[in-house]
Amino acid sequence: MTDNMKKAAVLGWPITQSKSPLIHGYWLKSFGISGSYEALAVKPEDFSETVSGLAASGYRGCNVTIPHKEAALALADVVSDRATQIGAVNTLVFKDGKIYGDNTDGYGFINNLAQRAPDWRADVGTAMVLGAGGAARAIVHGLLAEGAPKVLIANRTLATAQKLAAFFGDKTQAIELGQIESHMQDVTTLVNTTSLGMVGQNALDIDLTSLPKTATVTDIVYNPLRTELLEQAQKLGLSNVDGLGMLLHQAVPGFDAWFGATPKVDDTLRRIILDAL
Ligand code: ATR
Repeated sequence: MTDNMKKAAVLGWPITQSKSPLIHGYWLKSFGISGSYEALAVKPEDFSETVSGLAASGYRGCNVTIPHKEAALALADVVSDRATQIGAVNTLVFKDGKIYGDNTDGYGFINNLAQRAPDWRADVGTAMVLGAGGAARAIVHGLLAEGAPKVLIANRTLATAQKLAAFFGDKTQAIELGQIESHMQDVTTLVNTTSLGMVGQNALDIDLTSLPKTATVTDIVYNPLRTELLEQAQKLGLSNVDGLGMLLHQAVPGFDAWFGATPKVDDTLRRIILDAL
């Protein structure tokens, strides 16, 4: 490894499941950039010291994943507005002696829809987000930033949805999971951010029949790629987008900042990641 090799990494605990090295490795190879991107298993108590060590040894930055996203927010010298709003950082950039923190999850979500459903628009109607965890927070932020006039947040634990809605304000409303069908006819974007539908989990029990024909349905679950939710949407003739692209697109800003080239999310990359699931 030479000194001018551009280095980045992903830090998590555990980290074995991370697909980020495959994503960045594919882009490094496509561009012919002399660089590396490795997965580092870092315990919570070692997080801060590890980040300082990477910055001191010439790394360009890193991704951070569970359980470090809040610690990364606290550690960064400069935090982007969107990361502050989302309350978590997934991308750190080391530059000019400072640590910059960003959150690219909402960006990834929006850009996946823009690429896979080019006619989709956030500002034409109500969005309904199922779930109120970390992913939901990034997605609600992304939808509002794109001009969604209203975002309904439906969650098993209503209090968690209420907290999220209180944070984002007037355009958001918490609803009970049992109430979702009565709102369905106004919804033009429906997003599942819960783990329901994932391999080994129950399917999401939801009837999409009363969604408008113009609605787009998307899932952040990507294993399986075609969840029951997406299959139901497909049968109803609704636009539907799988969750793999969110994972791929969220990696774009980090690659750009560390390696100096803007990568594309293409079918070859999708195939590489699907084969590795
Ligand atoms: P993430 O960071 O992926 O969003 P999370 O913060 O753990 O993960 O959030 C998981 C979300 O999935 C929550 O909204 C959770 O609902 P609760 O707040 O009620 O826990 C939701 N979820 C997980 N398992 C669920 C289930 N079996 N039924 C309904 N919702 C579920």
